[in-house]
Amino acid sequence: MVQKIQPAHINIHQSSDNGRCVLPIVPQTLSDPLSQYALQLLHMRPSESPVDDVLREMEKLAARDGIPIIGPLEGAMIQMLIQLYQTPPRRVLDIGTAIGYSAIWLARGLPPESQITSIEIDPERAEMAQHFISQAGYQDRVRVLVGDVFELLPKIENQFDVILQDVIKHIYFGADSQLSLKLLDLCVEYLVAGGVLLGDNVFCMGEVLHEPSEQVPEQVIGIQAYNDRVASHPQLQSIAIPIRDGLWVSRKRANH
Ligand SMILES: C[S@@+](CC[C@H](N)C(=O)[O-])C[C@H]1O[C@@H](n2cnc3c(N)ncnc32)[C@H](O)[C@@H]1O
Repeated sequence: MVQKIQPAHINIHQSSDNGRCVLPIVPQTLSDPLSQYALQLLHMRPSESPVDDVLREMEKLAARDGIPIIGPLEGAMIQMLIQLYQTPPRRVLDIGTAIGYSAIWLARGLPPESQITSIEIDPERAEMAQHFISQAGYQDRVRVLVGDVFELLPKIENQFDVILQDVIKHIYFGADSQLSLKLLDLCVEYLVAGGVLLGDNVFCMGEVLHEPSEQVPEQVIGIQAYNDRVASHPQLQSIAIPIRDGLWVSRKRANH
């Protein structure tokens, strides 16, 4: 367990009506000046329309309806990371499709022969994802599976070269802090040796800095446990990149 720094600005949101922990949806881009500057620089690059148009439309929809998406800075980061491979990854897994935003960023970083499998538990979101993925022209490369990742992933036979794990959030795992660890085990099992595991929301909007205490909700404890396990995992070499809400970039060691 890493030593926690107790900052003055963080707070845990407790809803008054049912007493359950309510943590906010992480914005697509944080409002700090440097993130805003990085975003402006990103928007200066030549447009890859119509994909950029589709992404902008999705960003607006997500902001309006409170759908959590990784946002443009992290999306571009993920695209860049998978483009850095000398031999492009052939099999990519996107856990937590939502409306297909991260799947589109992944797809635009890959050649047409690569295949993305994306898993989403909410059928309405999965349907919207199919729509946007088709609009972006990636319907032949992205397969959206509807269901619970804990049920669907064990039915898949092959491993993946890259996995984006975007359901580690407190809001999906409720009060069971162990579920994030179970999903980590599953991801490591399904990653080829030398493969890359990406994970969103390392920071949980700063909540991870809380010292363990009875006031810290189980959801936050789950993220802290996930982070500690990723950081010290014998099969992974990992770094937490402080972009937006924090992005885990892990490589599965080749000797495992
Ligand atoms: C943060 S959103 C994903 C955002 C997406 N990666 C993006 O940036 O465009 C997480 C999604 O995971 C889905 N989800 C939550 N628990 C799940 C589970 N057990 N299996 C599959 N999907 C799940 C939620 O419905 C939600 O749409």
